[in-house]
Amino acid sequence: MPDPRHGNNMEEPQKSCLAETIAVTRSYENGRVRALRGVDLRIEEGDFVAITGSSGSGKTTLLQMLGGLDTPDSGEVMFRGQVLSEMRDLSSFRARRVGFVFQSFHLLPTLTASENVQVPMVESPLPMKEREQRAIQLLKEVGLAERIHHRPAELSGGERQRVAIARSLANEPDLLLADEPTGNLDRESTTMVMELLTRIHRENGMTLILVTHDPSTAAYAHRQVRISDGLVDRNVPNPPGAP
Ligand SMILES: Nc1ncnc2c1ncn2[C@@H]1O[C@H](COP(=O)(O)OP(=O)(O)OP(=O)(O)O)[C@@H](O)[C@H]1O
Ligand SMILES: [Mg+2]
Repeated sequence: MPDPRHGNNMEEPQKSCLAETIAVTRSYENGRVRALRGVDLRIEEGDFVAITGSSGSGKTTLLQMLGGLDTPDSGEVMFRGQVLSEMRDLSSFRARRVGFVFQSFHLLPTLTASENVQVPMVESPLPMKEREQRAIQLLKEVGLAERIHHRPAELSGGERQRVAIARSLANEPDLLLADEPTGNLDRESTTMVMELLTRIHRENGMTLILVTHDPSTAAYAHRQVRISDGLVDRNVPNPPGAP
Protein backbone atom coordinates (compact mmCIF):
# COMPACT_ATOMS: atom_id res chain seq x y z
CA MET A 1 0.00 0.00 0.00
CA PRO A 2 1.40 3.40 -0.88
CA ASP A 3 1.72 5.79 2.02
CA PRO A 4 -1.33 8.11 1.67
CA ARG A 5 0.72 11.05 2.94
CA HIS A 6 2.73 10.85 -0.27
CA GLY A 7 -0.31 11.14 -2.50
CA ASN A 8 -1.02 8.82 -5.41
CA ASN A 9 1.51 7.24 -7.72
CA MET A 10 0.81 9.80 -10.44
CA GLU A 11 2.36 12.55 -8.36
CA GLU A 12 5.65 13.94 -9.68
CA PRO A 13 8.65 13.10 -7.53
CA GLN A 14 10.00 16.19 -5.81
CA LYS A 15 12.98 17.61 -7.69
CA SER A 16 16.13 18.26 -5.77
CA CYS A 17 16.96 21.73 -4.56
CA LEU A 18 19.94 23.52 -6.10
CA ALA A 19 19.81 26.86 -4.30
CA GLU A 20 17.67 28.26 -1.54
CA THR A 21 17.31 31.49 0.38
CA ILE A 22 15.88 31.21 3.90
CA ALA A 23 14.49 34.41 5.46
CA VAL A 24 17.17 36.48 3.73
CA THR A 25 17.33 40.17 4.57
CA ARG A 26 19.63 42.87 3.25
CA SER A 27 19.53 46.57 4.03
CA TYR A 28 21.55 49.52 2.83
CA GLU A 29 22.26 52.93 4.27
CA ASN A 30 22.19 51.86 7.92
CA GLY A 31 18.86 50.10 7.52
CA ARG A 32 17.06 52.99 5.84
CA VAL A 33 16.73 51.02 2.57
CA ARG A 34 15.42 47.49 3.09
CA ALA A 35 16.26 45.80 -0.22
CA LEU A 36 15.28 42.26 0.92
CA ARG A 37 12.89 41.76 3.84
CA GLY A 38 12.98 38.01 4.49
CA VAL A 39 13.06 36.17 1.17
CA ASP A 40 12.29 32.46 1.11
CA LEU A 41 12.94 31.02 -2.31
CA ARG A 42 13.77 27.52 -3.48
CA ILE A 43 15.33 26.93 -6.91
CA GLU A 44 15.16 23.37 -8.26
CA GLU A 45 18.01 21.69 -10.12
CA GLY A 46 17.68 22.33 -13.84
CA ASP A 47 14.93 24.93 -13.53
CA PHE A 48 14.68 28.08 -15.63
CA VAL A 49 13.31 30.87 -13.47
CA ALA A 50 12.54 34.48 -14.36
CA ILE A 51 12.67 36.97 -11.50
CA THR A 52 10.46 39.96 -12.23
CA GLY A 53 9.38 43.04 -10.32
CA SER A 54 9.51 46.80 -10.53
CA SER A 55 12.71 48.84 -10.38
CA GLY A 56 14.16 48.87 -6.87
CA SER A 57 12.13 45.84 -5.72
CA GLY A 58 15.30 43.86 -4.86
CA LYS A 59 15.87 41.65 -7.92
CA THR A 60 19.59 42.33 -8.37
CA THR A 61 20.20 42.09 -4.63
CA LEU A 62 18.51 38.68 -4.58
CA LEU A 63 20.48 37.44 -7.59
CA GLN A 64 23.73 38.54 -5.96
CA MET A 65 22.79 36.60 -2.83
CA LEU A 66 22.15 33.44 -4.84
CA GLY A 67 25.51 33.75 -6.60
CA GLY A 68 27.51 34.52 -3.47
CA LEU A 69 28.38 38.03 -4.69
CA ASP A 70 26.76 39.53 -1.59
CA THR A 71 25.94 38.17 1.88
CA PRO A 72 22.69 38.55 3.85
CA ASP A 73 22.33 40.66 6.99
CA SER A 74 20.27 37.77 8.37
CA GLY A 75 19.00 34.47 7.03
CA GLU A 76 20.91 31.92 4.96
CA VAL A 77 21.68 31.12 1.35
CA MET A 78 22.17 27.44 0.60
CA PHE A 79 23.70 25.74 -2.42
CA ARG A 80 23.14 21.98 -2.72
CA GLY A 81 22.54 21.85 1.03
CA GLN A 82 25.67 23.80 1.94
CA VAL A 83 25.40 27.14 3.72
CA LEU A 84 27.22 29.77 1.66
CA SER A 85 28.40 31.74 4.67
CA GLU A 86 30.10 28.60 6.00
CA MET A 87 32.01 27.89 2.79
CA ARG A 88 35.74 28.20 3.22
CA ASP A 89 36.33 29.68 -0.21
CA LEU A 90 33.38 31.65 -1.55
CA SER A 91 35.33 33.04 -4.50
CA SER A 92 36.18 29.54 -5.65
CA PHE A 93 32.50 28.57 -5.29
CA ARG A 94 31.57 31.53 -7.51
CA ALA A 95 34.23 30.75 -10.07
CA ARG A 96 33.49 27.04 -10.37
CA ARG A 97 29.75 26.78 -9.81
CA VAL A 98 28.20 30.04 -10.98
CA GLY A 99 28.20 31.92 -14.29
CA PHE A 100 27.18 35.59 -14.41
CA VAL A 101 25.74 37.62 -17.28
CA PHE A 102 25.10 41.36 -16.78
CA GLN A 103 23.06 43.99 -18.59
CA SER A 104 26.15 46.01 -19.52
CA PHE A 105 28.23 42.97 -20.56
CA HIS A 106 31.28 43.80 -18.33
CA LEU A 107 33.78 42.79 -21.00
CA LEU A 108 37.37 43.98 -20.73
CA PRO A 109 37.84 46.46 -23.58
CA THR A 110 41.51 45.72 -24.29
CA LEU A 111 40.99 41.96 -24.64
CA THR A 112 39.71 40.08 -27.67
CA ALA A 113 36.54 38.00 -27.53
CA SER A 114 38.59 34.83 -27.02
CA GLU A 115 40.69 36.44 -24.26
CA ASN A 116 37.55 37.73 -22.50
CA VAL A 117 36.07 34.23 -22.49
CA GLN A 118 39.28 32.91 -20.91
CA VAL A 119 39.23 35.41 -18.00
CA PRO A 120 37.27 33.13 -15.61
CA MET A 121 39.63 30.25 -16.44
CA VAL A 122 42.53 31.87 -14.56
CA GLU A 123 42.40 29.28 -11.81
CA SER A 124 41.67 26.40 -14.15
CA PRO A 125 44.28 23.63 -14.36
CA LEU A 126 43.93 23.65 -18.17
CA PRO A 127 47.06 24.63 -20.09
CA MET A 128 46.91 27.91 -22.09
CA LYS A 129 46.43 26.19 -25.42
CA GLU A 130 43.44 24.20 -24.17
CA ARG A 131 41.90 27.28 -22.59
CA GLU A 132 42.12 29.01 -25.92
CA GLN A 133 40.59 26.02 -27.69
CA ARG A 134 37.74 25.95 -25.17
CA ALA A 135 37.13 29.69 -25.62
CA ILE A 136 36.99 29.27 -29.40
CA GLN A 137 34.61 26.33 -29.03
CA LEU A 138 32.33 28.38 -26.74
CA LEU A 139 32.40 31.33 -29.14
CA LYS A 140 31.40 28.97 -31.95
CA GLU A 141 28.52 27.71 -29.83
CA VAL A 142 27.19 31.25 -29.40
CA GLY A 143 27.52 31.88 -33.15
CA LEU A 144 30.65 34.03 -33.07
CA ALA A 145 33.15 31.87 -34.95
CA GLU A 146 33.96 34.90 -37.14
CA ARG A 147 34.54 37.27 -34.21
CA ILE A 148 37.09 35.41 -32.09
CA HIS A 149 39.84 38.05 -32.36
CA HIS A 150 37.56 41.12 -32.24
CA ARG A 151 37.66 43.50 -29.30
CA PRO A 152 34.39 44.61 -27.65
CA ALA A 153 34.41 47.99 -29.42
CA GLU A 154 34.38 46.12 -32.75
CA LEU A 155 31.25 44.13 -31.84
CA SER A 156 27.53 44.96 -31.79
CA GLY A 157 25.61 44.94 -28.49
CA GLY A 158 24.10 41.54 -29.23
CA GLU A 159 27.53 40.14 -30.14
CA ARG A 160 29.05 41.55 -26.94
CA GLN A 161 26.36 39.87 -24.89
CA ARG A 162 27.01 36.59 -26.69
CA VAL A 163 30.72 36.89 -25.79
CA ALA A 164 29.64 37.51 -22.17
CA ILE A 165 27.42 34.40 -22.31
CA ALA A 166 30.31 32.33 -23.68
CA ARG A 167 32.47 33.70 -20.83
CA SER A 168 29.81 32.75 -18.26
CA LEU A 169 30.05 29.15 -19.47
CA ALA A 170 33.85 29.00 -19.27
CA ASN A 171 33.98 26.82 -16.15
CA GLU A 172 30.83 24.78 -16.87
CA PRO A 173 28.76 26.32 -14.06
CA ASP A 174 25.82 24.56 -12.42
CA LEU A 175 23.96 27.84 -12.07
CA LEU A 176 23.75 30.63 -14.62
CA LEU A 177 22.60 34.03 -13.31
CA ALA A 178 21.62 36.68 -15.84
CA ASP A 179 20.65 40.18 -14.66
CA GLU A 180 18.65 42.00 -17.37
CA PRO A 181 20.83 40.40 -20.09
CA THR A 182 18.71 41.95 -22.84
CA GLY A 183 18.22 45.33 -21.16
CA ASN A 184 20.61 47.12 -23.54
CA LEU A 185 19.62 45.25 -26.70
CA ASP A 186 17.21 45.89 -29.57
CA ARG A 187 14.37 43.49 -30.27
CA GLU A 188 16.28 41.36 -32.79
CA SER A 189 19.30 40.90 -30.52
CA THR A 190 16.98 40.26 -27.57
CA THR A 191 15.35 37.37 -29.43
CA MET A 192 18.74 35.97 -30.41
CA VAL A 193 20.12 36.17 -26.87
CA MET A 194 16.97 34.65 -25.34
CA GLU A 195 16.96 31.80 -27.86
CA LEU A 196 20.62 31.21 -27.09
CA LEU A 197 20.05 31.13 -23.31
CA THR A 198 17.08 28.80 -23.80
CA ARG A 199 19.17 26.45 -25.94
CA ILE A 200 22.07 26.48 -23.46
CA HIS A 201 19.65 25.69 -20.63
CA ARG A 202 18.08 22.85 -22.60
CA GLU A 203 21.31 21.32 -23.91
CA ASN A 204 23.57 21.76 -20.87
CA GLY A 205 20.89 21.09 -18.25
CA MET A 206 22.16 23.89 -16.05
CA THR A 207 19.89 25.92 -13.81
CA LEU A 208 19.15 29.37 -15.20
CA ILE A 209 17.88 32.38 -13.26
CA LEU A 210 17.07 35.43 -15.32
CA VAL A 211 16.15 38.85 -13.95
CA THR A 212 13.96 40.88 -16.27
CA HIS A 213 11.24 43.51 -16.12
CA ASP A 214 10.10 42.61 -19.65
CA PRO A 215 7.10 40.19 -19.70
CA SER A 216 7.95 38.80 -23.14
CA THR A 217 11.48 37.94 -21.96
CA ALA A 218 10.13 36.42 -18.73
CA ALA A 219 7.85 34.22 -20.85
CA TYR A 220 10.86 32.15 -21.99
CA ALA A 221 11.31 30.81 -18.44
CA HIS A 222 9.52 27.82 -16.94
CA ARG A 223 8.64 29.67 -13.74
CA GLN A 224 8.16 33.28 -12.75
CA VAL A 225 8.99 34.67 -9.36
CA ARG A 226 7.82 38.22 -8.73
CA ILE A 227 9.56 40.36 -6.15
CA SER A 228 7.71 43.25 -4.62
CA ASP A 229 9.27 45.56 -2.07
CA GLY A 230 11.89 43.05 -0.99
CA LEU A 231 9.60 40.01 -0.74
CA VAL A 232 8.47 37.21 -3.07
CA ASP A 233 4.83 37.98 -3.80
CA ARG A 234 4.23 35.48 -6.61
CA ASN A 235 5.89 32.19 -7.63
CA VAL A 236 4.10 30.39 -10.46
CA PRO A 237 4.93 28.13 -13.42
CA ASN A 238 4.74 29.72 -16.87
CA PRO A 239 2.26 28.16 -19.27
CA PRO A 240 4.10 25.59 -21.42
CA GLY A 241 5.13 26.45 -24.94
CA ALA A 242 5.60 30.19 -24.46
CA PRO A 243 6.70 32.27 -26.25
N1 LIG B 1 24.88 49.53 -2.98
C1 LIG B 1 23.71 50.06 -2.62
N2 LIG B 1 23.67 51.11 -1.76
C2 LIG B 1 22.50 51.64 -1.36
N3 LIG B 1 21.30 51.21 -1.77
C3 LIG B 1 21.27 50.17 -2.65
C4 LIG B 1 22.47 49.56 -3.10
N4 LIG B 1 22.14 48.57 -3.95
C5 LIG B 1 20.80 48.57 -4.02
N5 LIG B 1 20.27 49.52 -3.23
C6 LIG B 1 18.84 49.80 -3.02
O1 LIG B 1 18.19 48.59 -2.68
C7 LIG B 1 16.93 48.48 -3.33
C8 LIG B 1 16.90 47.25 -4.21
O2 LIG B 1 17.86 47.40 -5.23
P1 LIG B 1 18.07 46.35 -6.42
O3 LIG B 1 19.24 46.82 -7.19
O4 LIG B 1 18.13 44.98 -5.85
O5 LIG B 1 16.72 46.54 -7.23
P2 LIG B 1 16.28 45.95 -8.65
O6 LIG B 1 14.97 45.27 -8.45
O7 LIG B 1 17.39 45.15 -9.22
O8 LIG B 1 16.04 47.28 -9.49
P3 LIG B 1 16.29 47.57 -11.08
O9 LIG B 1 15.14 46.92 -11.82
O10 LIG B 1 16.22 49.06 -11.19
O11 LIG B 1 17.63 47.00 -11.45
C9 LIG B 1 16.73 49.78 -4.09
O12 LIG B 1 15.99 50.67 -3.27
C10 LIG B 1 18.15 50.29 -4.28
O13 LIG B 1 18.18 51.69 -4.38
MG1 LIG C 1 18.62 45.39 -10.88
